[in-house]
Amino acid sequence: MLFSAGVAALLALAVPVRSSGSSAFPAPGDASYEYVVVGGGTAGLAIAVRLAASGKSVAVVEAGGWATEMGNITTVPGYAFSDPVLAPVEDFPPVPLLDWELLSQPQTGANNRSIHYAAGKTLGGSSSINTMAYHRPTKQTHQRWADVAGHESYTWDNMLQFFEKSTTLTPPDWQKRATPNATFTFDPTVFCLSGKSSSCGPLQVSYSNWVDPTNTWFAVALNAVGLGSNSTGFNSGYLSGGAYTTETVDPSTATRSSSQTSYLDWGLRNTQIKVYNGTLASKVLFTSGKATGVSVSTNGTAYTLTATREVILSAGTFHSPQLLMLSGIGPRALLSSLGIPVISDLPGVGQNLQDPIFFSVQNGVTTPSLASELANPNQAAAILAEYVSNKTGPYSSPGGYIAFEKLPAASRANFSARTSALLAALPSDAPEIEYLAGSFAGTGDGVTTIGDLSAAILHPFSRGSVTIRSANISDPPVIDMGWLTDAADAEVAVAAFKRVRQAWSSPLLDDWKVGPEVKPGVSVQTDAQILDYVRENAIPIWHACATNAMGTNASAGAVVDWRAKVFGVDGLRVVDASALPFALPGHPQATIYAFAEKIAASILAGN
Ligand SMILES: Cc1cc2nc3c(=O)[nH]c(=O)nc-3n(C[C@H](O)[C@H](O)[C@H](O)COP(=O)(O)OP(=O)(O)OC[C@H]3O[C@@H](n4cnc5c(N)ncnc54)[C@H](O)[C@@H]3O)c2cc1C
Ligand SMILES: *[C@@H]1O[C@H](CO)[C@@H](O)[C@H](O)[C@H]1NC(C)=O
Ligand SMILES: *[C@@H]1O[C@H](CO)[C@@H](O)[C@H](O)[C@H]1NC(C)=O
Ligand SMILES: *[C@@H]1O[C@H](CO)[C@@H](O)[C@H](O)[C@H]1NC(C)=O
Ligand SMILES: *[C@@H]1O[C@H](CO)[C@@H](O)[C@H](O)[C@H]1NC(C)=O
Ligand SMILES: *[C@@H]1O[C@H](CO)[C@@H](O)[C@H](O)[C@H]1NC(C)=O
Ligand SMILES: *[C@@H]1O[C@H](CO)[C@@H](O)[C@H](O)[C@H]1NC(C)=O
Ligand SMILES: *[C@@H]1O[C@H](CO)[C@@H](O)[C@H](O)[C@H]1NC(C)=O
Ligand SMILES: *[C@@H]1O[C@H](CO)[C@@H](O)[C@H](O)[C@H]1NC(C)=O
Ligand SMILES: *[C@@H]1O[C@H](CO)[C@@H](O)[C@H](O)[C@H]1NC(C)=O
Ligand SMILES: *[C@@H]1O[C@H](CO)[C@@H](O)[C@H](O)[C@H]1NC(C)=O
Repeated sequence: MLFSAGVAALLALAVPVRSSGSSAFPAPGDASYEYVVVGGGTAGLAIAVRLAASGKSVAVVEAGGWATEMGNITTVPGYAFSDPVLAPVEDFPPVPLLDWELLSQPQTGANNRSIHYAAGKTLGGSSSINTMAYHRPTKQTHQRWADVAGHESYTWDNMLQFFEKSTTLTPPDWQKRATPNATFTFDPTVFCLSGKSSSCGPLQVSYSNWVDPTNTWFAVALNAVGLGSNSTGFNSGYLSGGAYTTETVDPSTATRSSSQTSYLDWGLRNTQIKVYNGTLASKVLFTSGKATGVSVSTNGTAYTLTATREVILSAGTFHSPQLLMLSGIGPRALLSSLGIPVISDLPGVGQNLQDPIFFSVQNGVTTPSLASELANPNQAAAILAEYVSNKTGPYSSPGGYIAFEKLPAASRANFSARTSALLAALPSDAPEIEYLAGSFAGTGDGVTTIGDLSAAILHPFSRGSVTIRSANISDPPVIDMGWLTDAADAEVAVAAFKRVRQAWSSPLLDDWKVGPEVKPGVSVQTDAQILDYVRENAIPIWHACATNAMGTNASAGAVVDWRAKVFGVDGLRVVDASALPFALPGHPQATIYAFAEKIAASILAGN
């Protein structure tokens, strides 16, 4: 597990950030706008602010409030992996100010565990609670997106402008990083660079002002098994080898850059955007098949926000399909059984859920790490002082060494013909596995840190679903991730696990490692034992997507077209992770911001 308990004290540090009474926050009551965006999360705030910046009248409806009121836990990069919302266990600690508190159905492929699946319930959505890794997919992944969507605008060459438009990159500050054995090169041509243009995008992307010493050894370990450091980095359309990842951290303050701190804060200063925070949307309203508004409620007061042009759903992978179904868009038989009048019979709503999982191998090591530094009381004053005065040190960094590969030939030798064929059909440059360096505080006796090297299965063939159990918005969506229900995922997981152990076993690490393998431990050896370990220990990497998949054929399960317009109705788009056509390799937030920018541009161009 990448989180630690015992951070309750942090949660007490509430810091009010905004004065009330601003005209940007209307009182509850019927009102009319050109565009009503449901969900003030990652995509929602990006698209809403872009439309408002062009003079459109735009309202955003967000169930949550201000994540920054939670204080340090959401803002300080070093705390990213300590946030209690990350706990995937059934008896997770509730954090109602940040999280929807979703609990999945028992996962039949994962020893029937029910998983707490974190999802941001706050302005900024999941960008306010995520672990800040920023990188982009591969060129051929974008080609596949274009093929599935039936539109060339999704190719890498056509999408790059939107990745650039959403961000500002601050290159590494080598003096502040101060780790000569962790320097690297990267491709600066794919970003708008800080200071180079006044028209860079709002989201701040940077390299941490601290390097976790344990990660420098994971770079060695991965290099030893063929994943060399990539001189380009992971933002140019290639994912291969290892690299210190770019992160959504504002280097001027060394704090999280979310869609709220970036897009919304800019929008509040520079546009007429209206924000209905603390407001739950329950239904999209239709007149003659055209979306005309949204039913919402604030503090128990129900009212209607009319949309004279469009309603845009950006409520995320779990709640956008829930809202579509509550509004009469989804599988006819289900809607009818719950007494919901059918507006558009779309069998794909809530289907096709794709959820990458990850799992790790742990060993004691001698280096300090982010986790050991934060846990060390002797260091507390010094690391706080350097964070406050210099924006450096462990608090300034969320971690961040990752690597990608297609499994090498030796790892695939035992794959079934079906698994080999499924993998062969993936884009030619799309990695199958991501490796993530992580750590826990050590146990003493020379074990400074428990090193944690994980593998994530990037293209699950298992399919899950989101559905509803009633017509009532108060009932949470019913979520089944379908983990490891497809035999191919089980085969790939076992192979990936063995690669992680192979990396750990390099002789180059002998002076760094301490003691025998901590987890799962040397008794786990056979493929069956490894698979059982994975079923018992896999956790979400929180990238679930594609529950309103983009495509061309509604009968075959597509929910939105290339313009993100919902099939069978007018005036309604879905712009968030649910509308992705399939799981993307690696971490999706870069793409979700770019997707929001793309659809905003499309709307402004009259498409
Ligand atoms: C713990 C965690 C760690 C992650 N780490 C990374 C990472 O390191 N890098 C990366 O790239 N990605 C990461 N991700 C994934 C990434 O953050 C998400 O995929 C992305 O933020 C999803 O964006 P979205 O716009 O689809 O949804 P969200 O950002 O979740 O926004 C949905 C919004 O809709 C609101 N909403 C929902 N229903 C309603 C309703 N009925 N009425 C009103 N409002 C509603 C929600 O409150 C929320 O604000 C992580 C995600 C999580 C949860
Ligand atoms: C929304 O945020 C504003 C600004 O902080 C605040 O004044 C208002 O009370 C909030 N609304 C709700 C319903 O919480
Ligand atoms: C957290 O918040 C408190 C109170 O605002 C502050 O004193 C402290 O320095 C903050 N920073 C960290 C890294 O905990
Ligand atoms: C999971 O639950 C199902 C249904 O209750 C049961 O048949 C199955 O044996 C359980 N699996 C495990 C591993 O406990
Ligand atoms: C890199 O340097 C750090 C100190 O700055 C050290 O702790 C770490 O062991 C070094 N890593 C390797 C692989 O030598
Ligand atoms: C790094 O990425 C490039 C593409 O930019 C790729 O050609 C190369 O093989 C990668 N290097 C490593 C070490 O994986
Ligand atoms: C909503 O209720 C909360 C708590 O009861 C209160 O603080 C807030 O002012 C209310 N907001 C509005 C907009 O009525
Ligand atoms: C901040 O950085 C300066 C210059 O590198 C250094 O001299 C100083 O000691 C640092 N301050 C702290 C508190 O670490
Ligand atoms: C393939 O199976 C053989 C026989 O069971 C086993 O010895 C070998 O380790 C397996 N290879 C991999 C890569 O799992
Ligand atoms: C919806 O559920 C909530 C909470 O369970 C309940 O208070 C409310 O009465 C329900 N509404 C309807 C229309 O059934
Ligand atoms: C759409 O999908 C359905 C169901 O798979 C199929 O019968 C139909 O031929 C498809 N239509 C087109 C135009 O491909």
